[in-house]
Amino acid sequence: MAELTNPERRMLRALQNRHDGWSLEEILSACNWDDQAIAVSAGHGLSNHGFLTIAESSTTEVILGVEGQKASEGGLLEARLWDYIQANPSATMGDLSSTFERHEAGPGIGLLKGLGVSIQGGSFGCDDSDSVSNAIEQRTAFIQSPTIEHELFEHFKGRKNLIEVVEMVKLTWKISASGIKVPKEELEEVVQIAEITPELLQGDDWKNAQFRPYDVSLEAAVPRSGRSHPMQALIERIRSIFLEMGFSELVDDYVQTAGWNMDALFIPQDHPAREMQDTFYLENPKQIQLDPKLLTNWKAIHEHGGDTESTGWGGQFSEDISKRGLLRTHTTVNTIQYLAKNPTNPCRVFAIDRVFRKESIDRTHLPEFHQIEGIIMEPGANLGMLVSTLKTFYAKMGYPEVRVRPAYFPYTEPSLEIEVKWRGKWLELGGAGIFRPEVTEPLGIKDPVCAWGMGLERLAMLVLGLDDIRQLYISDLEWLRNQPIL
Ligand code: PHE
Repeated sequence: MAELTNPERRMLRALQNRHDGWSLEEILSACNWDDQAIAVSAGHGLSNHGFLTIAESSTTEVILGVEGQKASEGGLLEARLWDYIQANPSATMGDLSSTFERHEAGPGIGLLKGLGVSIQGGSFGCDDSDSVSNAIEQRTAFIQSPTIEHELFEHFKGRKNLIEVVEMVKLTWKISASGIKVPKEELEEVVQIAEITPELLQGDDWKNAQFRPYDVSLEAAVPRSGRSHPMQALIERIRSIFLEMGFSELVDDYVQTAGWNMDALFIPQDHPAREMQDTFYLENPKQIQLDPKLLTNWKAIHEHGGDTESTGWGGQFSEDISKRGLLRTHTTVNTIQYLAKNPTNPCRVFAIDRVFRKESIDRTHLPEFHQIEGIIMEPGANLGMLVSTLKTFYAKMGYPEVRVRPAYFPYTEPSLEIEVKWRGKWLELGGAGIFRPEVTEPLGIKDPVCAWGMGLERLAMLVLGLDDIRQLYISDLEWLRNQPIL
């Protein structure tokens, strides 16, 4: 015989005691269940085995609507008004309006008028108050047990929200000939072990036990536990790739001077990116002191190229502009300071940090975002090394197709743009190049420096398949929960 579940066994045992149809209530009480879902599902199982048949019949019933429920507890509107008028024979319209809710008095009087109550000179009168009381009693009785057959059914159907007509489906379970034949012994409920515990395995009971099979097709709740924000997870992954490639991490402040953020990088003082509309300058600190020696060096480089072979930008270099406080616009400001402090030790350094630019927020721009910055300084460092480092990084991120194109930055020569192929299209992810002598010489750096700065959010959009950068920061819990583990 096919395996039956315990509820099926119990239900079939009950049905074998009486061979006509059983109602849901009868099954629940015979099986000692209070959850009708168990009965319905056991019934389905038994019907699939051919041990019973299920009959469906529908009946129409009248139930109370929202207003009907209120009326059955607190009385019908006409009953409450009528009681009040009986108790206060000289009551006027005004009294009614102040005693009852505003939306009740008007319709209530309408109902009473329909029963023969009249208004004369502002007070109420009636020829036959017994018949009014009688009619109201009948209506009250109907509300206590409404039926379709009752003569007041039509009256109540015409009133708003008092009664509702509903279709009720009733199921009846009836044992079949083959169900009757199933031997009682086979309908013993068996103890099935659902969980294997150390206690169970210590004894011998498990040897004869039945184990509940796993049903891998069942819907299961997805376990939800705390996890890193996808941006944080991505940062961790990038960090571990650079660490693996032999880099050390650099963390530094985002409050900086224009001097380090721009002048040290040979960005001309009249460069458009320095304008107020592109850079967040600070009110406090408005100025930050800089080493006078540095200022002298930068001034010389900018005005005429200093001791390098460069001719500089010409014009007048302003030390006041240099000292202005700002929120860094790129993380290159930190790598250049690292080099200034360690000009002669070959190094591989990276940073993943926040930068600020006055961008209006849209699908691909945010005023606060992150850059993945890095430098390699060592004897013989060259463009080939720079490109292969970036290619290795993106390949480890899962983007093996990378290309570079010529570009321009005031602080690198040659300069290039890095592009990654994504869904058949080339996307620009960052800039790179080799620092110019105007940048390295004033700081005493002798070896070539490969440098790059790439957008983290742009990369996140590829990794997470987003077409709107804002999605990363709106804290949409449902979206966050469904992000892949990176
Ligand atoms: N700082 C540049 C940017 O913000 C990127 C860059 C870094 C370019 C280092 C060249 C070298 O876009």
